[in-house]
Amino acid sequence: MDAVNHQFQLAARPVGLPKPSDWRYVQAPVPEPGDGEVLVKIHYVSLDPAMRGWMNEGRSYIPPVGIGEVMRAFAAGEVIASKDPDLAVGEHVGGLLGVQEYAVASGKAVFKLDTDLAPLPVYLGALGMPGVTAYFGLLDIGRPERGETVVVSGAAGAVGGLVGQIAKLKGARVVGIAGGAEKCRHVVEELGFDAAIDYKAQDVDAALAAHCPKGIDVYFDNVGGDILDAALAHLARHARVVICGAISQYNATGAIKGPSNYLSLLVNHASMTGFVMSDYLDRYAEAVREMAGWLAAGKLVSREDIAHGLESFPDTLLRLFRGENTGKLVLEIAGS
Ligand SMILES: NC(=O)c1ccc[n+]([C@@H]2O[C@H](COP(=O)([O-])OP(=O)(O)OC[C@H]3O[C@@H](n4cnc5c(N)ncnc54)[C@H](OP(=O)(O)O)[C@@H]3O)[C@@H](O)[C@H]2O)c1
Repeated sequence: MDAVNHQFQLAARPVGLPKPSDWRYVQAPVPEPGDGEVLVKIHYVSLDPAMRGWMNEGRSYIPPVGIGEVMRAFAAGEVIASKDPDLAVGEHVGGLLGVQEYAVASGKAVFKLDTDLAPLPVYLGALGMPGVTAYFGLLDIGRPERGETVVVSGAAGAVGGLVGQIAKLKGARVVGIAGGAEKCRHVVEELGFDAAIDYKAQDVDAALAAHCPKGIDVYFDNVGGDILDAALAHLARHARVVICGAISQYNATGAIKGPSNYLSLLVNHASMTGFVMSDYLDRYAEAVREMAGWLAAGKLVSREDIAHGLESFPDTLLRLFRGENTGKLVLEIAGS
């Protein structure tokens, strides 16, 4: 094949917020699939806060992206050549395909995506990694009961917006925390949360006291830092705190801000549990099936925020850290 594959390779380990020179935008030959592999033309690249962590050296739940390697990313596209008998040309697949136009992957490393059921970007959001994260993080770790109060930060984002909606489906009262009046309106009016707190304009501590008079039974944390600390001060007895992420700390150049109100766990007989979605890979299909049922029944709103053009990747990724996305941030690749 003569076509060129544009791709972003990691060029340097960022200090603080990533800058464009932390990646190299290069042209490479489109690779040929080997036995058991497929060649995928990528249509959409998922932009995730975790990508910031993958750029760091050091031990994590997954090895870092190597310098000179294609930037790791979830993506979805179409099989255009196949040496895997189970995957035909024209089928749609998703997986860790990278920030590039074409990827070769083992057939075993990709998921088939049914575009009759939902468009491809939804498979990077509600029916993909963020959806599975929200589903198991809330239901397996948060375990909300009917009538309990669930608070979720990053409430207008990909994971947070789904967590609040699933909690409502399970009969909980849901309070979201998000940045800005428009995001707060979105989570209440479009996603059905009971209330929202604008952490950029309101005193979060006072607002939690007002919205959670009996305390917080489940706190699903996406942001860490001061908001985690404020939530800890309002826990109900036997509360469950789910540590899903801490985006406020991902670009820290000094020590990460830990919670000082952690003794609230002791006095409230509460627990705080970190989790990584990949712990649930063997149950991925179960979550997707249930979420797809809710979507089809109109019980769940899936919102994608779609940016355009592979070359805009470095700046588009930063939208996550500037709070400029509502719902799942996805990059559409030109010509897809
Ligand atoms: N554990 C896992 O397996 C797993 C899997 C997926 C995601 N995650 C984590 O879940 C969290 C949400 O991910 P997502 O994909 O759904 O992203 P997202 O919420 O769609 O986007 C990130 C949002 O974070 C908020 N934010 C950015 N900087 C902030 C700050 N300093 N303080 C408070 N909020 C800030 C912004 O919203 P505002 O405008 O409201 O500030 C921004 O829109 C991240 O921490 C991510 O790492 C964990």
